[in-house]
Amino acid sequence: MYSLAELKYMYISPLQDAWQAAQVIRYCPAMEPVVKAHRKLYANTDEAVVISMDERQERFLGDHSLTYGETRWVSFIRVLDSLKLTPKDVFIDLGCGAGFLCLLVNQATGCKVEGYDIIHRFIESGNQLVQTQGLKNIAFYNRDFFQSDLSHGTAFYITCTCFKPEDMDKLESRLKYNRSGTRVVTITRPLKSKHFRLLEKFKLRFSWGPDLAYIQERI
Ligand SMILES: C[S@@+](CC[C@H](N)C(=O)[O-])C[C@H]1O[C@@H](n2cnc3c(N)ncnc32)[C@H](O)[C@@H]1O
Repeated sequence: MYSLAELKYMYISPLQDAWQAAQVIRYCPAMEPVVKAHRKLYANTDEAVVISMDERQERFLGDHSLTYGETRWVSFIRVLDSLKLTPKDVFIDLGCGAGFLCLLVNQATGCKVEGYDIIHRFIESGNQLVQTQGLKNIAFYNRDFFQSDLSHGTAFYITCTCFKPEDMDKLESRLKYNRSGTRVVTITRPLKSKHFRLLEKFKLRFSWGPDLAYIQERI
């Protein structure tokens, strides 16, 4: 006899994943081969969670702010619709994890895309996929975004769910040199800096449940 959680894992989650993939391909048909290649690397969110947990354990990275989770792909389409990115933008996913959001932005908008993550294996696999799929204008970097120059980015996405108040302060001080009009999407909590104004706030679904997205603009 299976438990409800096991039944969900065996039957409901694969159906939800297939539905999400179909929605992404409907939104951006060029994503079809990319979705397939990404699924070969990560069959589902749980596989990425395990990769992150194993590497953090091996490297003694104990900080709660590194906890892994994913934005549901369909939720991110809602964010993309709001951002209205053009090929002139530079989109940076601060903490890109398995990198799917970067791949979608790259294929759907043609803008320059960068994904930063502290976990080596995400970056290696992301760049390997970029190479095998022959993608242009996208790269993944093994960087701590709190230590990185972010001044060239014009649109940022960051899940702040496990951040401490001091992490939000560090993020805000990194973004204060960005030019007027730069958009920053934060999840769970907004930027408090007087240098940013709130454009939109809405609820989305994530692997950890419903949560809030804040779209802010550098004044
Ligand atoms: C919640 S996951 C989000 C993954 C992806 N952006 C998404 O929304 O589906 C957060 C990721 O940020 C990374 N991360 C957290 N703090 C970081 C830091 N200071 N520098 C680089 N990566 C970081 C973690 O390793 C993790 O992969």
